[in-house]
Amino acid sequence: MKISVIGGGPGGLYFALLAQKAWPRRDVTVYERNRPDDTFGFGVVFSDQTLDMFKSFDGPSYEMIRRRFAYWGDVDVVYKGRTMRSGGNGFCGCSRVALLHILHDRCRELGVKLQFQREVEELEEFADSDLVVVADGINSRIREKHKDHFQPSVDLRPNKFTWLGSTRPLDAFKYFFRETPEGVILAHCYQYESNQSTWVIETDDATWRNFGFDRKSEPEMLAAVEGVFAEELAGHRLIPNRSLWRNFPTIVNKTWVKQVGKMSAVLVGDAKATAHFSIGSGTKLAMEDAIALFESMRKESSVEKALNTYDTARREEVEKTQHAANVSLAWFEHMRRYWDMDPLQFAFGVMSRSKQITWENLELRDPAFLRDVQQWFAARVRAQGFDIPVDRPPPPMFMPLRLRDLVIENRVVVSPMDQYSAVEGVPTDWHLVHLGSRAIGGAGLVYVEMSCVSPEGRISPGCTGLWNEAQRDAFARIADFCHANSKAKLCMQIGHSGRKGSTQLGWERMDHPLEAGNWPIVSASPIPYYEGISQVPKELSRPEMEKIMREFEKSTQLADAAGFDMLEIHMAHGYLLASFISPLTNTRRDEYGGAIENRMRFPLEVFGACREVWPRQKPLSVRISATDWAPGGLSGPDLMALTRMLKDAGCDLIDCSTGQTVPSQRPVYGRMYQAPYSDWVRNEVGIATMTVGAVTSADQVNTLLASGKADLVALARPHLANPSFTLQASAWYQHAAQHWPRQYLSGKDQALRNAARERAELTELRLRARPASHEVKDAPERAYLSSVFTPGTRV
Ligand SMILES: Cc1cc2nc3c(=O)[nH]c(=O)nc-3n(C[C@H](O)[C@H](O)[C@H](O)COP(=O)(O)OP(=O)(O)OC[C@H]3O[C@@H](n4cnc5c(N)ncnc54)[C@H](O)[C@@H]3O)c2cc1C
Ligand SMILES: Cc1cc2nc3c(=O)[nH]c(=O)nc-3n(C[C@H](O)[C@H](O)[C@H](O)COP(=O)(O)O)c2cc1C
Repeated sequence: MKISVIGGGPGGLYFALLAQKAWPRRDVTVYERNRPDDTFGFGVVFSDQTLDMFKSFDGPSYEMIRRRFAYWGDVDVVYKGRTMRSGGNGFCGCSRVALLHILHDRCRELGVKLQFQREVEELEEFADSDLVVVADGINSRIREKHKDHFQPSVDLRPNKFTWLGSTRPLDAFKYFFRETPEGVILAHCYQYESNQSTWVIETDDATWRNFGFDRKSEPEMLAAVEGVFAEELAGHRLIPNRSLWRNFPTIVNKTWVKQVGKMSAVLVGDAKATAHFSIGSGTKLAMEDAIALFESMRKESSVEKALNTYDTARREEVEKTQHAANVSLAWFEHMRRYWDMDPLQFAFGVMSRSKQITWENLELRDPAFLRDVQQWFAARVRAQGFDIPVDRPPPPMFMPLRLRDLVIENRVVVSPMDQYSAVEGVPTDWHLVHLGSRAIGGAGLVYVEMSCVSPEGRISPGCTGLWNEAQRDAFARIADFCHANSKAKLCMQIGHSGRKGSTQLGWERMDHPLEAGNWPIVSASPIPYYEGISQVPKELSRPEMEKIMREFEKSTQLADAAGFDMLEIHMAHGYLLASFISPLTNTRRDEYGGAIENRMRFPLEVFGACREVWPRQKPLSVRISATDWAPGGLSGPDLMALTRMLKDAGCDLIDCSTGQTVPSQRPVYGRMYQAPYSDWVRNEVGIATMTVGAVTSADQVNTLLASGKADLVALARPHLANPSFTLQASAWYQHAAQHWPRQYLSGKDQALRNAARERAELTELRLRARPASHEVKDAPERAYLSSVFTPGTRV
């Protein structure tokens, strides 16, 4: 069998050596256009975990890698004159050229043929090969030539970056943030050999232009960057190596495999998919691809089967890494947003930005860093007049929050959940038990499901309503029970279903019209939810809008009379008020349609009417769909505009949900997937926010709060399985001050004791499961490397 590899980067070389080692009689050749000592860029980084994997696939190259790499465990965030260090991170780095030399040596030893200075033009050059591994990097010529087949898509990110080196020694991975008159600019830096460090400079497009980097020659650019980071460089110079400013392309390919006659071609590494440099995973991904491809070849009986297995089985892992990289890069694209944060919160945000590192991960890595963050959070809450212990404070989820005169005991919220179990809009004993048990389960705030302002405003016949005294009294019974038996505060959510009304119960065919007994529905515009299935709603006239406004007003008064502490107006999920906000559902030509100011007119009128009759001391929040997840839906600027309008109108909290506007939506799900919207609104508009959506653990709640992505965190489905989510979390964190109903007190001590033991056991397991450092102290190979690599060598 003949195997040809196009591109002698880490991906191509590693596959070649694995294949040659496993099948010594096969003919394996790598074609590389550069010379062996040519390279672009400076260092590469691996985690201890990645080294574990290399160890199990090829001992000799692993041994060379681990002896030659420089190791560090600390990450420093340097921001506004302060250095925040967090330890225990376990990384190592070396120069790219050193890694390539290791792989060249190992390939030669195994019999791989290496052909340097050989530019490949066409796949057809390898018609006599059985397998062609296309590892020709980010700008892959082969992929582009066959783009109709591979179907690559390239998302060119807005930030600019350039890759530089320096002789400046560094004792940790450093993020140097700098504010300049031109804007915010950042250096991602790490040392990879003695006196050799990588400096990736990143900034947004406007700052880049303000610096004039689009016009500057390389020496001028270097002088400008050296000026910005003069203190950090401490007298050392920056070294270029074809250091052009670029925009990072996130690349994905629909398929990775192509058949040409009897030859099969397969994409590997950057040619196949890229991951932003801020998670340092590009080389790792390329080498892991090589491993995955090799493993498929080893297990499957034919090349064709092997490539199909690689294309399917490897995808999930690659997509996960790309997702983490995309979340990470987005943080850097918005670093201006976090500029006013306290340095500790800023540093926590940097560390937890890709969702892979959480509150508890950080506690495991560096308890002292986490304690500093915890104490800072507590001190900030204490400064708002709360009696909080600052020495040994509880984690952020157990910190109180004040909205107007309302004090919410902790930051965990039971999200509103329609139970479809009301009779004529009147809540039943089911609601008493459902809401009551969640209140005694310890959440700081419990939401009632969307209760509708009129019979026609109901989503389904089972929805609760708040238009008459019977409903008010039934809710008062629930509110009284919760207040008497827990410290939970209660929020009533009111809404009108609009075009999603007169539909079946949640466990039937949701959002589909009733089998019988439908009532007429209304909306901003006469567009049915399901074309050809749903009723066509009537476009609301001005008098009808006036009537609905009065209904909202009356519900508000009834909610106050029933004893609710807080009120939320539902302007999300495609219901009536949301149907005005989204351009997908509002095509009106009057003053209630068109620009966002017009589309917000009716929702704001309703908000104003409710605020007018809702007691001044009680908070009023709004749930929004921050995106429609559909082309032509709500835009980012519109989101900013509408939340600013709500803030100006006296809204106290934006409850950031998303979607459910149109059935064609394509949400990007994932853990905490709606938090970026809460983060955006909170930190750009300056209003308290609540996040919700796929938050399942106390660890995530603390991560979201500590990084400033939200002020409250709501959980819906997790509370269905576990009403006592908060009580359990309080035991986990040994937060003995958490209120337990007196009837349950005998369970409290036991829960605290058991949780302490379980937590200690889990911590020990986690610590043991952590990959050990692979460092070989004082390895002589490291000195050799410095002599091989001269920064700035020809590319
Ligand atoms: C600023 C920046 C910082 C980075 N930092 C890190 C980091 O810290 N850690 C990390 O792991 N990754 C990092 N990366 C990513 C990393 O460099 C790549 O992801 C990785 O090198 C991909 O490996 P590869 O083998 O797929 O491709 P490459 O390394 O790009 O190799 C492709 C090879 O193919 C050759 N080639 C191309 N076309 C042809 C042709 N037509 N004929 C013959 N040969 C050809 C090229 O010369 C090259 O040698 C960074 C990337 C950037 C841009
Ligand atoms: C059974 C059920 C009923 C729901 N009813 C409502 C509701 O009445 N009002 C509302 O705004 N959201 C409602 N939602 C949405 C949730 O409040 C929440 O936003 C969503 O489930 C995502 O959170 P989760 O991932 O924690 O479940 C409901 C969700 C579920 C599962």
